[in-house]
Amino acid sequence: MIGLGAMGSALARALLRDGHRVTVWNRTSARADPLVRDGSVLAPSVAFAVAASPIVIVCVADYTVTHSLLETQEVAPALAGRVLVQLSTGTPQEARDSEVWARERGADYLDGAIQATPSQVGRPDTTIFASGADAAFRRSEPLLTSLAGNVTYLGESVGSASALDLATLSYVFGAALGFFHGARICESEGLRVDAFGSMLADIAPVIGEMIKHQGDVIQAGVYESPQASVSTCAGGVERIVQHAREAQINAEVPTFALGLFRKAMAAGHGAEEAAALIKVLRGGA
Ligand SMILES: NC(=O)c1ccc[n+]([C@@H]2O[C@H](COP(=O)([O-])OP(=O)(O)OC[C@H]3O[C@@H](n4cnc5c(N)ncnc54)[C@H](OP(=O)(O)O)[C@@H]3O)[C@@H](O)[C@H]2O)c1
Repeated sequence: MIGLGAMGSALARALLRDGHRVTVWNRTSARADPLVRDGSVLAPSVAFAVAASPIVIVCVADYTVTHSLLETQEVAPALAGRVLVQLSTGTPQEARDSEVWARERGADYLDGAIQATPSQVGRPDTTIFASGADAAFRRSEPLLTSLAGNVTYLGESVGSASALDLATLSYVFGAALGFFHGARICESEGLRVDAFGSMLADIAPVIGEMIKHQGDVIQAGVYESPQASVSTCAGGVERIVQHAREAQINAEVPTFALGLFRKAMAAGHGAEEAAALIKVLRGGA
């Protein structure tokens, strides 16, 4: 296990908990102390860590850091015959480049994306997306299932895991921005933000259904007979901006959203399903 930040440490701990033999390496070696106390072996170098196991999991800041650690004269040859599992966040192109790089060194390569925070690692309902050669997946699956109960293999097209990861992150960060503005609404109206968070967790399945519906509409390309039209949604966003003005709170998040809805309205999509906003994002309006 290379990389013992918040996520790498949680991954190593989950592997230990499931009885795997774990060798760890981290730039700041002190971060390995609690894991060594719990039975993992601290590698004195990246090369030692790579040589120690048939499967090498990397979870560092990004792919550039990964390559700076692995692309050395000592480490690269040690990768031959092993599976390199990249769990740092990256782009599909970085995944494709990494697969070529690993193959040139005789290693199998699997790209993965963790759909969880460190405290959620190892749970039965935690998800990891994986993509890359079938052989790489088969070899690493027993380890991955210790990290997440729901390991979703997306096939041999190695960029798929990071593509779906970035798409999911786009959704999560968009929702988080909306939540933070919602928290300002609560604060300005004397409501508890923690209760707001709990309420959203309770109704998450219903909101998930709404998002799934938008996905179905976009895939089918049929925007008529809307559940919620662009103009209805635009009206809601306008009220959020109006409230921000009345309550004198920051309005950047809803103002940004309103700009997109207004573009969709101006392009004649007002009566269509809210998902028609994607036509603005496609640039064709
Ligand atoms: N945290 C999450 O909720 C989460 C969820 C899904 C995916 N991820 C992904 O997991 C990866 C790690 O995230 P994290 O939360 O563990 O971040 P973190 O706590 O900031 O840890 C970063 C890790 O990268 C290492 N690192 C950074 N720059 C380095 C360099 N130049 N040379 C060597 N090592 C370097 C750090 O080593 P030092 O300890 O020496 O600084 C540390 O091990 C990221 O790609 C992140 O996007 C995180």
